[in-house]
Amino acid sequence: MFFPLRVITVVVAFATAALAAPRANPDRCNENTAPFQIRLAYAGDSGMAFSKNGILNRFARSDISTTYPTSSTYNNHVVITGLQSDTTYYYMPECGNQTYTFKTARRAGSSTEFSFAMVGDMGTFGPYGLSTTVGKGASNPLKPGEKTTIESLMTLKDSYDFVWHVGDIAYADAWLKEKGGYISPVNQTDGGAEYDKILNEFYDQVEEISSIRPYMVGPGNHEANCDNGSDLDICLPGQLNFTGYRAHWKFVLNAYLCPACPLLSPAEWRTSGIPGTTVRCTSSNSTPKTDFPNAPDEPGGEGDEDAGPFAPSGSQLAWLKKDLASVDRKKTPWVIASGHRPWYVSTTECLECQAAFEPLLLQYGVDLVLHGHKHFYESHAAIDNGTAQEIDADPTAPWYIVNGAAGHYDGLDTPSLPYVPTSRKVITLYGWSLFTVHNCTHLSTQFIASGNNSILDTATLIKDRNCYC
Ligand SMILES: *[C@@H]1O[C@H](CO)[C@@H](O)[C@H](O)[C@H]1NC(C)=O
Ligand SMILES: *[C@@H]1O[C@H](CO)[C@@H](O)[C@H](O)[C@H]1NC(C)=O
Ligand SMILES: *[C@@H]1O[C@H](CO)[C@@H](O)[C@H](O)[C@H]1NC(C)=O
Ligand SMILES: *[C@@H]1O[C@H](CO)[C@@H](O)[C@H](O)[C@H]1NC(C)=O
Ligand SMILES: *[C@@H]1O[C@H](CO)[C@@H](O)[C@H](O)[C@H]1NC(C)=O
Ligand SMILES: *[C@@H]1O[C@H](CO)[C@@H](O)[C@H](O)[C@H]1NC(C)=O
Ligand SMILES: *[C@@H]1O[C@H](CO)[C@@H](O)[C@H](O)[C@H]1NC(C)=O
Ligand SMILES: [Fe+2]
Repeated sequence: MFFPLRVITVVVAFATAALAAPRANPDRCNENTAPFQIRLAYAGDSGMAFSKNGILNRFARSDISTTYPTSSTYNNHVVITGLQSDTTYYYMPECGNQTYTFKTARRAGSSTEFSFAMVGDMGTFGPYGLSTTVGKGASNPLKPGEKTTIESLMTLKDSYDFVWHVGDIAYADAWLKEKGGYISPVNQTDGGAEYDKILNEFYDQVEEISSIRPYMVGPGNHEANCDNGSDLDICLPGQLNFTGYRAHWKFVLNAYLCPACPLLSPAEWRTSGIPGTTVRCTSSNSTPKTDFPNAPDEPGGEGDEDAGPFAPSGSQLAWLKKDLASVDRKKTPWVIASGHRPWYVSTTECLECQAAFEPLLLQYGVDLVLHGHKHFYESHAAIDNGTAQEIDADPTAPWYIVNGAAGHYDGLDTPSLPYVPTSRKVITLYGWSLFTVHNCTHLSTQFIASGNNSILDTATLIKDRNCYC
């Protein structure tokens, strides 16, 4: 396929200068102005949101530049608009030394096949995250030399257009969790430096992907606070109430929580949707106290997360209903929803989440629901209130897939036996999911084991419907 090429210099203070030649102004650049942690996100079918970080207390040029207590960096954000859909662009961040590419989203009604990657529950790899050792009582450390999910995603980067991370991003909150054994010694007088270090490590590691593919996120429970399990008094202000998540992901669209981002005005929010893909993606927030009835604290009793509410109870369901109702299914046949905590899974289920979200997902004919939170892969049938339907026989209910196996710092979970009746495949290995939207009737998935890129599960959802495009 032929894509016209465009070249962009991201001069972040002047978005209208976006189509200039890619040349940084050397007078403004020095060793302290180099951008890092570059992150892309779709902004409609004719725009792209850029985020990058910079060293604190240095001049930063962008539409929005924000930091928060305990952060050692600024988060700089800008949305570039007026681009062509489905087009490859080249860009160079100001003061950067490298040219990157991205491709804008398809316009609604496009009928070309495309793929996306899904990851859940991915933290850093190495000393501050998943490594060849895990904590007491945990299992599945990486084998020496085993490829990580980030490495697997990089080697297969040409196979997908964007990455969808369904929550639990970085596990910076784990700095205390291992009771002093994880980051050792635990230092409580350094202003939260360990938390910040893990967060930066994650965004540094994922940059090789997030700088070339839109990296779409939804929030998980580990974004909520510094999580010592019981003792929130230890959390500093920048480690509560989704602060780091909200600062890093100002422009992520269709993900509940960003409407509550204090620096995001309604006008900016409008530019941050991806209505233009063949698939409509919508990301709910099933984390604690996030504006749906009976939104629980951590099931299993991790206690108060000291997060939310962001709006009156029920606001999230109203948001989701409006988002789902707005899709023109003639142009956009597929609707995929994500949330963090699953309710169809062979271990503790989030029944409050089911009660809140499932009726809307059924009512609006959502095709596929992606969940994480549990650290294994479990593909299910299509399910209507507990009743399974065949995925290849035009199900009326959504197909459910849980994949929180990308790289939790402390290993994988053990699913409970017997598996729930709707379960069709369980894999307890590190990995991610590749989804391919073939046309308006066929959507398939592969589970890819990160360690050696082997495909360990494949399945196809088949709908019997007319393609209008
Ligand atoms: C380019 O910039 C990166 C990030 O600032 C730096 O690590 C790298 O050394 C630079 N490379 C060159 C060739 O200057
Ligand atoms: C804790 O951090 C402070 C500030 O960085 C430092 O002065 C102190 O030496 C650290 N303590 C330990 C035990 O590492
Ligand atoms: C973390 O919580 C445990 C109890 O689960 C407590 O014993 C420990 O002191 C706490 N650590 C810190 C640094 O607050
Ligand atoms: C979290 O932030 C929201 C939005 O600013 C605010 O309404 C809410 O009260 C905060 N929650 C806590 C526990 O601080
Ligand atoms: C879902 O199924 C349960 C029994 O498994 C039933 O009590 C409940 O009323 C059903 N909900 C709906 C919305 O049909
Ligand atoms: C849709 O894609 C599937 C899988 O590639 C293929 O088997 C099927 O024939 C396609 N249907 C149409 C109408 O092109
Ligand atoms: C890849 O890894 C999986 C899981 O460890 C293993 O079952 C499979 O045999 C490996 N495949 C190859 C080709 O090495
Ligand atoms: Fe989680």
